[in-house]
Amino acid sequence: MKTKPVAQAAGLHWPLMKNNIAREDLDAVCALLTQEDPVLTQSRHVRSFEEEWSDWLGVKYSVFVNSGSSANLVTLAALKELHGSGGEVIVPTITWVSDIAAVLHCGFEPVFVDIDSRTLGMDNEQVIAKLTARTRAVFVTHGLGYNALTRRLQDELGRRRIPLLEDVCESHGATFAGRKLGSIGLVSNFSFYYAHHLSTIEGGMVCTNDAEIYETVRMLRSHGLVRELDSDSRKKEYADEYADLNPEFTFAYPAYNVRGTEINAVIGRSQLKRLDENIERRTENLVLFLDNLDPSIYRTDFATEGSSNYALTLILKNQDPILCKRVMATLKLHGVEFRRGTAGGGNQLRQPYLRRLHGPDECKKYPRADHVHFYGLYVGNYPTLERDMILRLCDLLNGLAAKEKGDMWMVSC
Ligand SMILES: Cc1ncc(COP(=O)(O)O)c(C=O)c1O
Repeated sequence: MKTKPVAQAAGLHWPLMKNNIAREDLDAVCALLTQEDPVLTQSRHVRSFEEEWSDWLGVKYSVFVNSGSSANLVTLAALKELHGSGGEVIVPTITWVSDIAAVLHCGFEPVFVDIDSRTLGMDNEQVIAKLTARTRAVFVTHGLGYNALTRRLQDELGRRRIPLLEDVCESHGATFAGRKLGSIGLVSNFSFYYAHHLSTIEGGMVCTNDAEIYETVRMLRSHGLVRELDSDSRKKEYADEYADLNPEFTFAYPAYNVRGTEINAVIGRSQLKRLDENIERRTENLVLFLDNLDPSIYRTDFATEGSSNYALTLILKNQDPILCKRVMATLKLHGVEFRRGTAGGGNQLRQPYLRRLHGPDECKKYPRADHVHFYGLYVGNYPTLERDMILRLCDLLNGLAAKEKGDMWMVSC
């Protein structure tokens, strides 16, 4: 192996995420903490954040929880409590573990479909082909900022009265036909983990226009407690029916504690003020990146209309393990943090928790998910990312296909 050319290794110092909790967010926390006797457990800031988020998204109701995974869990739990368990939920092969875990934990059977390579979401035609009398919901993931919905799927689900659940954890602010993702399905989920468009350190949101779902999720978030209901008439119904119970401690469901705190909500409220501006910058970054990548080497034909990406998608055009190694080695050499297989560890059917259920070969039936699994990466896309850095990275990446095997790019990775 040749010596590494140190001069070329001038670092780009490019983490997955930078400055996502700003000074002004921390100042808002300090203002809360320096109040006399501040309330820190879920209280008025959580309520205000929920209302402000609902206004921003364009839905009637939002329920703040402690993570996107918790949002997934209470969404599926609400579906189970309101409509019974059993039956199938259609899910993507490329998503986060908590989407599938929620389906499994709530007693539904996940039915997998391959992705659409241009959206990284489910191939909508495959979803339609897998709808049966046993389908209880379709749970789409809008991955890495791209819209995963088509009008045809929406119409088909509407016609068959099958609920659409949207995971928007990676795609805050993305739109489909002029509507924000997360305002279209029966329920939607957001994550406010550090690396996402808006961060409350940890946190998540369940959003809906359906009053029944909303009230159920409110109870599921807090042990199943009836006192969490907004509706006084619903509370009275429970009090009348269960007259032997203390209304303060009536548990409607065997549920969870997935509440957030006032500290998280204060950060969220502060962040929401600059979310749209940040989304604009990130969108410009993605367009610049895709416009400058060599389309003969990398996939650049993503469905970017209405997209909102916190990551720059870097997917090889062809199945080329050598080039993939070179790309990863180059990113490492230049200090560019990356993830392989998209945000969730690639083809979920390759993960041990699903191999145990579906066997070792099931994953091979989903070649597009597998392509992303083996040849798909992403790097961070944060609002302060400089134009010049994006162009430098594109230059580096575009130069890689011409390198010869056995040179410095074979640094192990
Ligand atoms: C698509 C998707 N769903 C759910 C989650 C879970 O969110 P959290 O990390 O807040 O639990 C993530 C995580 O980033 C995700 O990418």
